[in-house]
Amino acid sequence: MSELSLFALFYVYLNQNYIIMSDNKVILNYDGNSYEYPIVDSTLGDRGIDISKLRDQTGLITLDLGYKNTGATLSDITYLDGDKGELYYRGYPIEQIAEKSNFTEVMYLLLHGELPTENQFTSFDNNIKKYNFVADEMKKILDVFPRSAHPMGVLSSLTSALTAFNPKAVNVNSKEEMDHAAELMLAKFSHLCAWTYRKTQGLPINHGDNSLSYVENFYRMAFRLPNEEFVMDPVVVNALDKLLILHADHEQNCSTSTVRMVGSAHTGLFASISAGVSALWGPLHGGANQAVIEMLEMIEADGGDVNKWVEKAKNKEDNFRLMGFGHRVYKNFDPRAKIIKKAADDILNALGIQDKALDIAMQLEKVALEDDYFVSKKLYPNVDFYSGIIYRALGIPTEMFTVMFALGRLPGWISQWKEMRLHGDPIGRPRQVYQGAGVRDYVAMTNR
Ligand code: SDX
Repeated sequence: MSELSLFALFYVYLNQNYIIMSDNKVILNYDGNSYEYPIVDSTLGDRGIDISKLRDQTGLITLDLGYKNTGATLSDITYLDGDKGELYYRGYPIEQIAEKSNFTEVMYLLLHGELPTENQFTSFDNNIKKYNFVADEMKKILDVFPRSAHPMGVLSSLTSALTAFNPKAVNVNSKEEMDHAAELMLAKFSHLCAWTYRKTQGLPINHGDNSLSYVENFYRMAFRLPNEEFVMDPVVVNALDKLLILHADHEQNCSTSTVRMVGSAHTGLFASISAGVSALWGPLHGGANQAVIEMLEMIEADGGDVNKWVEKAKNKEDNFRLMGFGHRVYKNFDPRAKIIKKAADDILNALGIQDKALDIAMQLEKVALEDDYFVSKKLYPNVDFYSGIIYRALGIPTEMFTVMFALGRLPGWISQWKEMRLHGDPIGRPRQVYQGAGVRDYVAMTNR
């Protein structure tokens, strides 16, 4: 045994504080006592130590900034293997889902746990069409926003405002009530996303056409010009459908955890989703797709020297980061990035578009993936690295990219919210390690 191991054993023996792992439990020896904590098994991936009795028994809590090692819940919905770069919706590989399914079917799969039969699909699709009318008064709320308002701020506000027009969707307790609220949300949210876009363009808003599919209807509501016949381009519709599928759910990411946290107080679905929209807006999360394009445009304007910017991203003194690179869980290629990268090539070729941003993105990816800084830290392109290139090719403005992410993520947010409620998860209330001032008495201002 090495000297280090002997020292470690000696140190541990002296301190009597150590953990022993066995197959189905963890034994913590602390302060002369021994405590056992069960290991919770998984179907796939991480198993968890159930520490629900830790504080009562030891007076200790755990500390895990950003919850990098902490499971917040038990879930059946999505699983991703960060080391292998694999993603599964209800057990189905994302590659198969992206190739063979459609966004409405993915909504059903995430929400109900199984792929729908033809009758189930038709009934679900018809309900969404039945509920997709948005109260005209909502237009008055949209009207008061300045045209320059960021679409994510508008979308979060409109989403919360929906509550006022759908009061029965607030206090839902049964599965049936939750499913109804889910269909209302799925139905109306795409209109809010389209309207948000129209607002930024100064275009009149419309209520869509129920003879179309969910994605076709969104595409037409968003892009139909009042003075021209609208042409439904199947290349665009297929690209949008695939992008929305790829964004549909992703375990307990920041915005999903926000939806769960807000919903854990038994807040209504619409308000919980509104909170998720706000969380997604951040440039470290869903806002990264907008930040990637802005970064690529900046590099192009700066002369296109990708090596210079890769060096900046590596420099600790420089707060520049390579947007669209890195991931909390994926320490391999994000499988969605692989699919989107190929789709970007296909769509640009189909639409006959040359996009310098794509060329720069490919150069960045090549340089970064050969650089030890990125390799050693396992930083790979994530879902946001290429998605903006497709959105731009489809004529969607940069500020709308995160709205598109939100539209895709909506079924995931709703499904996770529903699971949290049906599982009866307790209200979320983390603890802290307090390092502030010790207890002291108030001092009158004259004595300070
Ligand atoms: C999404 O969680 C999800 O599932 C999210 C998502 C989903 O579908 O919901 O996948 C969507 O949000 C994708 C991520 C989009 N964000 C970006 O592309 C922004 C750029 N990426 C980084 O900010 C970062 O990689 C995060 C936020 C994505 C992850 O951050 P972590 O897990 O907290 O990791 P970290 O910041 O602690 O970084 C670890 C190291 C650090 O260096 P050291 O301090 O160890 O020396 O890697 C470095 C970081 O400086 N690093 C980067 C980097 N990302 C991490 N260095 C340069 N460029 C980067 N992009």
